[in-house]
Amino acid sequence: MERQISATKAYEESEDIGRNPSENATLGDVISARFSRRDLLKGALAATAISATVSPMALAIAEKAQAQGTTPTFSFKEVTAGIDEKHHIAEGYDADILIRWGDPIFADGAEFDPQAQTAEKQLRQFGYNNDFLGYFPIDGSNRGLLVANHEYTTEELMFPGLGMQDTKEADFKGMTKDLVDIEMAAHGGSVIEVQRQNGKWSVVPNSRYARRITADTPMEITGPAAGHDRMKTKADPAGKQVLGMLNNCAGGVTPWGTWVTCEENINGYFWGKLADDHPEARNHKRYGVPGNRYAWGKWHERFDFAKEPNEANRFGWIVEIDPFDPNSTPKKRTAMGRFKHEGAAGITNKDGRYVVYSGDDERFEYIYKFVTRGTVNPNDRQANMDLLAEGTLYVGKYNEDGTGEWLPLVHGQGPLTEANGFRSQADVVIEARRAADLLGATKMDRPEDVEANPKTNKVYAMLTNNDRRKPDQVNAANPRPENKFGHIVEMTPDDQDHAGTKFRWEILVRCGDPSVATVGATFSSATTKDGWFGMPDNCAVDNMGRLWITTDGNSGVTTGRSDGVWAMETEGELRGTSRHFFRCPTGAEMCGPIFTPDDETMFVAVQHPGEDGQDWPAFGRASTFDDPSTRWPDFKAGMPPRPAIVAITKQGGGKIGV
Ligand code: FEO
Ligand code: CA
Ligand code: CA
Repeated sequence: MERQISATKAYEESEDIGRNPSENATLGDVISARFSRRDLLKGALAATAISATVSPMALAIAEKAQAQGTTPTFSFKEVTAGIDEKHHIAEGYDADILIRWGDPIFADGAEFDPQAQTAEKQLRQFGYNNDFLGYFPIDGSNRGLLVANHEYTTEELMFPGLGMQDTKEADFKGMTKDLVDIEMAAHGGSVIEVQRQNGKWSVVPNSRYARRITADTPMEITGPAAGHDRMKTKADPAGKQVLGMLNNCAGGVTPWGTWVTCEENINGYFWGKLADDHPEARNHKRYGVPGNRYAWGKWHERFDFAKEPNEANRFGWIVEIDPFDPNSTPKKRTAMGRFKHEGAAGITNKDGRYVVYSGDDERFEYIYKFVTRGTVNPNDRQANMDLLAEGTLYVGKYNEDGTGEWLPLVHGQGPLTEANGFRSQADVVIEARRAADLLGATKMDRPEDVEANPKTNKVYAMLTNNDRRKPDQVNAANPRPENKFGHIVEMTPDDQDHAGTKFRWEILVRCGDPSVATVGATFSSATTKDGWFGMPDNCAVDNMGRLWITTDGNSGVTTGRSDGVWAMETEGELRGTSRHFFRCPTGAEMCGPIFTPDDETMFVAVQHPGEDGQDWPAFGRASTFDDPSTRWPDFKAGMPPRPAIVAITKQGGGKIGV
């Protein structure tokens, strides 16, 4: 998610307001949504079956589907939806803590002491707020590399005695350079080696692959923006090397064994005021820069917008990292566009080109895809290592009739010319949002993960919510005004061609409580009272082709339940049925679902446990280091809540959810 400050509302007003001024696709008078017959049927039936814990109808249909040998369906006893200090997993499964914020990942790493944390220690320890996870097999499903994004930091939960920071006025009274340097060292990502022995996962000590990437790690800028004047700074007059990656949210794993990680809410790290007559003013305004959400600019000049106005152009990219070489230089892939990238899940197209889908997570922003110029060489890893440097970026347009188009962001084509301020492809990728505005892309309800199912070639887009969409701003793909609970759009590329420009789409499910008619949720009638969710965020397709959803934003006041993992049926009579598999502790969001190749382990990332304000009815006040709403996962006096990775396995072994 994004960083929450003391008052969620204040945060949203500055960070996530939706700053897309274009006229695209609000289609003023179109109020009615496009439903398939199936959606209508599900909506009509929804209220009848949701009170059953395990729906007899669901079991009967599941048995029938399995007997017919169609797509495998899920089978597990649901966890009860709710909210408390702990995590909960479906009966018959174990959910074990693998690694926590502050755990040393190098032989010389210091044990975590929250009262005596330093930047030097943090550089040798697992970072904060783990988000995306990727698994790279070394010995199949028993040993591999696990990579984790560390999206952002939460000062009031990390540092003793600090309390809530008033960032609205950007004063950060309690912050010091030492604390800022800890924050910078806690950002970025981690590479760890993990192994499964006697059924249990652990971190391999002293692994030669162990690596921390931070807000200071040197990175190469590749693609059309590399070396462009708008990328040059005092520290980097060539515009080709940048220090660090910021706010890495979700990402992806390529078939050639690299980690692609996405910079999301980068605006918050820049500090200062925007002069209206600055040449970059229009660009930075469109991206919400400077966001003044962190105090880094007080001590690090490059984050001071007045002193280094181009530094913000060097963030907001997809970064590709080789996890097998701890000395490799991460590469920012500017060909893939600059926006608030949520994820970068990819699929090898039938013609061998690699296609990466990515959402721009802000209200009224767009869904993009990138198609490489070259093709994946399955026999030569090295030949693929710069595949993401060149290709075509597209943005999605969702027509009212259920068709869709991918519109190319190519300099010189259509409106992307000098007359509109685009002098080169560098300008197009740096200002991808404005380019997409001019092309007439469809404004979506906060696009998060977008992931293709290689078994069916269908593509799933998580639209997390958009409570600012007004009735006259709905469109067919975003049909709910004040969309508080989000929805999931399913796209099917014409001719199964992910590199093509045409697709069909429909809404898989509108989220929220189906027992409340005004919510308008469309889970199937086989969905139980525990099975529905709001705010879909990340997703994973397991190796059997089944869709799993994780959420961000469920809470005591939004849906009366914690975030967690839900299994989602996408095929056959059970389509639109979801089931609750794992539940987070209070204040946490659920990130990073990933499976080992044998589907016997699911790794998930519990991000920002204890990040509670007024949302937790039993708590009712801001949650801080000294008085947190939970001390998950240690539950020891004096120990704050710690973001951590959880390994989920079936007791006695076997595939997850079967
Ligand atoms: Fe970092 Fe879109 O959540
Ligand atoms: Ca996210
Ligand atoms: Ca989110």
